[in-house]
Amino acid sequence: MTKKLADEIQRRRTFAIISHPDAGKTTLTEKLLYHGGAIHEAGEVKGKATAKAATSDWMSMEQERGISITSSVMQYEYRGKHVNLLDTPGHKDFSEDTYRTLTAADSAVMLIDVAKGVEAQTKKLYEVCRYRHLPIFTFVNKVDREGKVPLELMDEVESTLKMSCYPITWPIGIGSRFYGLYHRHEKRVYASKMLNGELHTEDYAVSDFNDPILDEKVEPDVLAEFREEVELVDATMENLAPEDVLSGKVSPLTWGSAKYDYGVTNFMDIFESYAPGPVPRKSFGEDLDPCSKDFSGFVFKVQANMDKRHRDRVAYIRICSGKFERGMKVKHMRLGREIRLAYSNQFFADERVTLDEAYAGDIVGVNDTGNLRVGDNVTTGKKVAFGAIPRFSPEFFAKIRLQDMGKKKHLEKALRQFSEEGSIQLFMQPSVGWQDPIIGVVGELQFEVMLHRMQEEYNISVKLERTSHSVARWPRTKEGEAYTGEIKGSMLNVVDMYDEKVVLLEKEWDLNWAERENPDVVFATSIQPTR
Ligand code: G4P
Repeated sequence: MTKKLADEIQRRRTFAIISHPDAGKTTLTEKLLYHGGAIHEAGEVKGKATAKAATSDWMSMEQERGISITSSVMQYEYRGKHVNLLDTPGHKDFSEDTYRTLTAADSAVMLIDVAKGVEAQTKKLYEVCRYRHLPIFTFVNKVDREGKVPLELMDEVESTLKMSCYPITWPIGIGSRFYGLYHRHEKRVYASKMLNGELHTEDYAVSDFNDPILDEKVEPDVLAEFREEVELVDATMENLAPEDVLSGKVSPLTWGSAKYDYGVTNFMDIFESYAPGPVPRKSFGEDLDPCSKDFSGFVFKVQANMDKRHRDRVAYIRICSGKFERGMKVKHMRLGREIRLAYSNQFFADERVTLDEAYAGDIVGVNDTGNLRVGDNVTTGKKVAFGAIPRFSPEFFAKIRLQDMGKKKHLEKALRQFSEEGSIQLFMQPSVGWQDPIIGVVGELQFEVMLHRMQEEYNISVKLERTSHSVARWPRTKEGEAYTGEIKGSMLNVVDMYDEKVVLLEKEWDLNWAERENPDVVFATSIQPTR
């Protein structure tokens, strides 16, 4: 390993923002990119999205519906760190995509609306982060608005998520009585005033939260409440141990307003100090050193037809070790042969830039002709198996009715494509196979996107015929092997795209019955692809 390789790898920071829709993820992303020099004025991110929508019709659907369906990767440099920000779709119906994206991150930023506290989607995504022991940074947004009492909000985060927070900044008042942020480590106040709807900022040193200078600047009842809260916080939380952040035990907490760009650089400084570089990934049960000289990585996302003019398909690879070079040959573990990773892209505020090299921690988007699927592993060294991309039980199921029977081959191609991207799951009945596949999705909106894309990208009109199923389970033995015996109960036996046995049931009640009647069978809700 050369020093340059190790230096480059160690300065990588790869994270995703998790939040409930409307908490301010787009606004915060924009400010991060702005301070990281990746964009030059606020509004560029949304502007780019509009331009992109013009070239890709299914993305126009995102615009119409005001939802973000796709996710991409953005980069910026901050204080010597090369930061990769993984964007995730905000809508809950695409949460599977978000789960997959989180497998490529080394840390997460949890964004919370000061008035709303911990919301449903945030909680769900937090669970995924905790399962992976990801370090989590909490940013409470919209302090320029009326919201919950800070201490109560922090208690809510801690008790709802069963996680400890360590506040580094603390707000002096909230909403119209917001006087700035007190930085507990720097002993500085980042003050602000709302004037004609604009926030004006200054910062000044203080000895601590009792400094008399605050009496001159802040109205008495706001100050009294602030002092009471910080006294309590100081008394219980003196130090922040970096190892507790890295293990996900304690979340550094900061406050701010993404809209008014307040507290954002404070947050960025804290993130830069505490966020981990590329963490070793487990392969065959062993930690793989990210600084090893061999390149390795896994595909966590495949996206097709991003630009209709090119009919392209991009596979996003998270690099787990070593260095990537454009055009390099790698071993494709599932196919058992070499492939060339050509035409690599990196994504710069939503624009593609050709990339010649990248390092562990980075994400590269490689143009793919159909070799790469979600969960695939590639390497230039010894065998790897990162295999950490879970599949989840769909909740909605349908069969497809083709209007023009001459388009059967097109339909098969489209379904294969969507399934390899992970945007739908496909189930086959052994007797009929491709004649009558069943499609499963986690959120209804996935059906809508699928129908739209079939029309736009493959020119096929189909109708959906819903089936009465609502549960899919992968039967396993207690040891985690595929269960091959007979299973009692009312269910449809199918196989998934990886040829794994799956049972589809109509109701939870049927599942409960089957679980009682088949004590040897574990009905797994999600599985890791085994091949
Ligand atoms: P999302 O990606 O998490 O869904 O949220 P987004 O950034 O789109 O923000 C949702 C709304 O919240 C937007 O308002 C945005 O301006 C507002 N917002 C974000 N951060 C802050 C903040 O710190 N303070 C305040 N007061 N508002 C904030 P909108 O009315 O939907 O859109 P816009 O017209 O303001 O762009």
